Amino acid sequence: MQPLLDIRNLQVAFVAGGSSVPVVRGVDLQVERGEIVGLVGESGSGKSVTCMAAMGLLDGNARLSGEICWDGQPIPSQDDRAMSRLRGNELAMIFQDPMSALNPVQTIGRQLFEAIRLNDPDRRGRQALKERALQLLGHVGVPDPEQRLQAYPHQLSGGLNQRVVIAMMLAGNPRLLIADEPTTALDVTVQAQIIELLRQLRDQRGMSIILVTHDLGVVVQACDRVVVMYCGQIVESGPVEVVFRSPCHPYTRGLLASLPRFDSDDDTLMAIPGMVPPPQELGVGCAFAPRCPDASAICRSSMPTNQFAEAGHSFACFFPTTVPSNRVPSR
Ligand SMILES: Nc1ncnc2c1ncn2[C@@H]1O[C@H](COP(=O)(O)OP(=O)(O)O)[C@@H](O)[C@H]1O
Ligand code: SF4
Ligand SMILES: [Mg+2]
Repeated sequence: MQPLLDIRNLQVAFVAGGSSVPVVRGVDLQVERGEIVGLVGESGSGKSVTCMAAMGLLDGNARLSGEICWDGQPIPSQDDRAMSRLRGNELAMIFQDPMSALNPVQTIGRQLFEAIRLNDPDRRGRQALKERALQLLGHVGVPDPEQRLQAYPHQLSGGLNQRVVIAMMLAGNPRLLIADEPTTALDVTVQAQIIELLRQLRDQRGMSIILVTHDLGVVVQACDRVVVMYCGQIVESGPVEVVFRSPCHPYTRGLLASLPRFDSDDDTLMAIPGMVPPPQELGVGCAFAPRCPDASAICRSSMPTNQFAEAGHSFACFFPTTVPSNRVPSR
């Protein structure tokens, strides 16, 4: 069976002042039905741009090439009407700040009714809309849903607003939810609750999820597969357990070394030295070379290609290592 979402050789560049800056450079990303894929990497790696490309939501100054297939069919990224039919029906996206999806001067109820009407035009009348809204709020675990319908977003906590946004997305029964740092603005307890909610939605509805996060702890809790991005490229991907226990790419090892150890008193965190280079400064070789402890001459002159380690596990590095990691947090 074809993957639900199949992105092949995606390239995205932004045009500004007569020059074109590539920020996504040959991304291949597949999402199976019912799968939760964690997309990780430091800020500026191209995670959001990749997701926005899949949603057809990139700014007008973006130039895109490659192929994006949905359920076996190419998505015509230039066809705005086809894209907007897919969005809301099949594909939905939520962001770090739930307020970006909510109208501050409208009640939660009014916004939910609108989302329901858009996706289910046959459902008319206040009572029918209210029943569906209460059902959706129940699915996402909002307590006292009747009361919440009358509330304005500023009267709810960040965690509750994020649940409301997820309820609005569910009105369209999407088959893939792209969640871009959905818990970054929330405190740790609420973050864990939202992650649990996403897992339940997958288990109960068979929904696929791309979970974008810079937090590897979230990936371990929520995801089946992890895809690690650096400077617009995928540098390693595979089943979460496999990649975290035997990371091959020095960047993945660096990210894991930045996690607290769970099996020892040693709580030193090793941050990756240096910074993510701006996309306009990337050279011909491996983008990670300036920060990589294992870099040698070939890394600066040639780009490593993708190699396969074992079932579903691949990486792009000339000098991979498989040092078992002892920094993997338990689920
Ligand atoms: N609209 C835009 N115009 C120009 N550059 C952009 C735009 N959006 C993102 N970028 C650049 O693309 C790169 C990748 O950004 P992004 O996908 O947001 O990273 P991430 O989500 O991994 O933090 C960054 O260098 C960012 O500055
Ligand atoms: S290719 Fe070279 S520079 Fe790049 S990650 Fe591997 S060892 Fe480091
Ligand atoms: Mg982002």
